Amino acid sequence: MSSSTAWNPQTYSQNARFVSDLGEPLLQLLDPRANERILDLGCGDGALTEKIAALGSFVIGVDASAAQVLAAQQRGLLAAVMDGQRLSFKPGFDAVFTNAALHWMREPEKVIEGVANCLKPGGRFVGEFGGKGNVETIRAALHAALDKRGIDPWTVDPWYYPSAEEYTQLLNQFAFTVESIELIPRPTKLPGDIRAWLEVFAQPFFKALIDDEREKYLEEVRNRLAPQLRQPDGAWTADYVRLRFKAVLE
Ligand code: BEZ
Repeated sequence: MSSSTAWNPQTYSQNARFVSDLGEPLLQLLDPRANERILDLGCGDGALTEKIAALGSFVIGVDASAAQVLAAQQRGLLAAVMDGQRLSFKPGFDAVFTNAALHWMREPEKVIEGVANCLKPGGRFVGEFGGKGNVETIRAALHAALDKRGIDPWTVDPWYYPSAEEYTQLLNQFAFTVESIELIPRPTKLPGDIRAWLEVFAQPFFKALIDDEREKYLEEVRNRLAPQLRQPDGAWTADYVRLRFKAVLE
């Protein structure tokens, strides 16, 4: 997860538990076996790391957020603070797993190089993250409201959402063979108001503003989004698109 966002395990759990709940099919793609050594890259509070461990693998989680790592450790998991773009493990893992983390890392070459360096030959890299078009409506509203305030949104936008073709090319560059990769549109009903989602996930955008302006900015973004993302019953849907892949190191 991004180090430019202050992750609060409690508000994350209240507003974004669906992120790990929707990770089950990815666990099936990982297919962890007993006694395998697995790295969970961007483990967050360890909700999925715990499920991998329960299947009998030796799993270590890493995350850029110290608060999330502490939450993972409180589940009894082995977890450490580490930037996914600066992985420092030697070859030894059978698989690297990652859910909802790589879109926070804007140096994907560094990520993939680090993953390749820590896998055994034949090791698996299995993951899911935001793909091309992810939260496009939300991103457009965040950008438009910053533009209006004279700030170039690309200077603060923290997200990386590649296409399947772009990510395949990168994986190939680092000696991975892609077994499967697909872009999955996944409109997702949010557990609460879009404001709560923005406060968890869009911090780099509103942190660019002084305190007084933040409230007005968030209200404006909410108003821009309501016609497209709020249902007649008041529920909000986020226009998620996921990129799910499995690659094997030569
Ligand atoms: C996520 O972590 O799931 C996420 C973060 C930012 C935008 C979209 C999704």
